[in-house]
Amino acid sequence: MRARGAAVAFACIALCVQTVVLRAQAAASTPGRNVSRDSARSILRGKALIGAFRDSLPRYSGNRLRCASCHLDDGARATAMSWQGTAARYPRYRARRGSEESLAQRVNECVMRSLAGRALPEDGKDMRDIVAYIETMRAAPRPPNVDTVKLVGTPTAGRRVYVATCVRCHGAVGEGTKLAPAIWGAKSYSIGAGLSRQTVLATFVRYNMPYDHQVTLSDQQSADVAAYVLAKPRQDHPGKEHDWPKGDPPDDVAYATDGARANGKTLPSARPLLSRRVQPHQPTPTPREK
Ligand code: HEC
Ligand code: HEC
Repeated sequence: MRARGAAVAFACIALCVQTVVLRAQAAASTPGRNVSRDSARSILRGKALIGAFRDSLPRYSGNRLRCASCHLDDGARATAMSWQGTAARYPRYRARRGSEESLAQRVNECVMRSLAGRALPEDGKDMRDIVAYIETMRAAPRPPNVDTVKLVGTPTAGRRVYVATCVRCHGAVGEGTKLAPAIWGAKSYSIGAGLSRQTVLATFVRYNMPYDHQVTLSDQQSADVAAYVLAKPRQDHPGKEHDWPKGDPPDDVAYATDGARANGKTLPSARPLLSRRVQPHQPTPTPREK
């Protein structure tokens, strides 16, 4: 059973790598685009970074996740925050920032929140390679949105789902195992991440988890397990009070924002927070500025 699993996993990896190489080669040989062998290499390196972020870029990582922990199948899975068509949507206005955001800035939002890390230099090689990989999916049609799970969950009911369905891979205290990454605590994503919103987590779980028996939980079970997971402590995201500066946070944002307060919105109940492991990036001054 295990041997067959390993063989299947190996075949999948081989296939994925082959697909990317082919895509990269196709990009490199598209006439008129003048894409060089360097850019094929950049795409492959970008793919490696999103699959092994912490091992490759430990200075920028604040937890044990990789981009592909959430963007499943290296960003290709339609139901898991797919990157198909993403590059064509940027730059775009984002309410959380209250202004327009570039693709590199969007990537850094996930680095700082979902990886609880510090921002990559926007003009550096690492960012260029990650963006080059996401660009390979620019022309892919954007998958239709899955139905958002909007039910409100109950942590006590969610605990039962967690123990029965998730614990064998994600661990008794959400710490992760060899089979799956941490889903709360210091090794997981921060309070400022998209998955810290109950509807976003419940919808991700509804269509993608448990990893080996997808789409077997009901909407209510997905909402309940999300409520349970989000009642647990996780890393803070300093500066989160400045999110949604126009005062329009979605209802399931788990922290108070200045904008909402100014608009008279009631505050969500406080969640248990751990201190941030990687401090937000302080750009090193260039020699001239010193
Ligand atoms: C903990 C889960 C998680 C991790 C880890 C994560 N992301 Fe995300 N990412 C999300 C969620 C949730 C969204 C929001 C999807 C939405 O807006 O519908 C998102 C959105 C994005 C988007 C915007 C997609 C679009 O079409 O607008 C990009 C680009 C992105 N992530 C890149 C990355 C990269 C690169 C990494 C690793 C450096 C990463 N993410 C790590 C959860 C994660
Ligand atoms: C068979 C093992 C398995 C089971 C059972 C399972 N997961 Fe996962 N889960 C995974 C794997 C593997 C990943 C990361 C995929 C990757 O890195 O490619 C993941 C990723 C996640 C993520 C995003 C990354 C993170 O660590 O936060 C969440 C959230 C999640 N699972 C929630 C759940 C919930 C809730 C359940 C129970 C309903 C569940 N999973 C059951 C294997 C599993």
